[in-house]
Amino acid sequence: TYKAVLFDLDGVLADSAREHYAAWKRLADELGLAFDEQKNERLKGVSRMASLDILLEDAPRPYSDAEKHALATRKNGYYQAIIQKVTPDALLPGARQALEACKALGLKTALASASRNAPLLIDRLGIGPLMDFIADAGAAKQSKPAPDIFLMAAKGVAVPPERCLALDDAAAGVLSAKAAGCYVVGVGDADILAAANAIIPDIAAFDPKSYLD
Ligand code: G6P
Ligand code: MG
Repeated sequence: TYKAVLFDLDGVLADSAREHYAAWKRLADELGLAFDEQKNERLKGVSRMASLDILLEDAPRPYSDAEKHALATRKNGYYQAIIQKVTPDALLPGARQALEACKALGLKTALASASRNAPLLIDRLGIGPLMDFIADAGAAKQSKPAPDIFLMAAKGVAVPPERCLALDDAAAGVLSAKAAGCYVVGVGDADILAAANAIIPDIAAFDPKSYLD
C-alpha cells in the first residue's frame, strides 16, 4: 500500500499557476511576443529557462544566453513581487485538508515542484509544518518531464517511488511522476493529463484513503 504522497505545488496546492502565467505574459507583452493560456499550458511544470525557450520560440530574432538570463531574472522578479504578498488565502480549496488527511493516515508528505520559489511560497502559505520534505528544484539535474524531482521527493521521505502517490496538474509533471514509478493522480483536465493513472478535477476531490488497501 502507499506510504507517501508527493505533491506538485503550482496549480495543485496553490493558485500560483495563474501568477506564473501573469508574470510570463507581462514579459511577453514587453517583448512584443504572442503568448496566451494555450501556449502557457506547455510551460506548466517546466523549469524557468525551458519555459523562456518556449516563450521565445517564435521570436523574430535570436536571443543570446546573457539576454536570456536577464529575461528569466526579470520574469522571476515579477513573480516574486506577487508571491511576497501571498497569504494562506491563496491555498486552493481543500489543499490544507488534503495534507492534514495524509498526516492523519500516517502518510509521509513531500513537495515535488519544479519551482525554485517553492520553499518561499510554502512558507507564505503556512503549510511548511504539514510537509515532511521539500525537494530542491535547483538540485534536479533534469526538470519535468524527467523523473528527477519526484525521485528526490520520494528519497527525501525514504519511501520507494512505487509506494508513492503523486499529484500534478501539468502534462510534464504527470510524465515525470510516471517515469519515477509513482501512482499518478492527475489534477485537472483528463485530456491534458491522459498519461495519469487516475484523474481528479481539483485537490478538494483528493481522498488519500480511497487509494489505500
Ligand atoms: C513550476 C511551474 C512553472 C514554473 C516552474 C519554475 O513547475 O508550474 O510554471 O515555470 O515551476 O518556477 P520558478 O519559480 O523556479 O521560476
Ligand atoms: Mg503544477
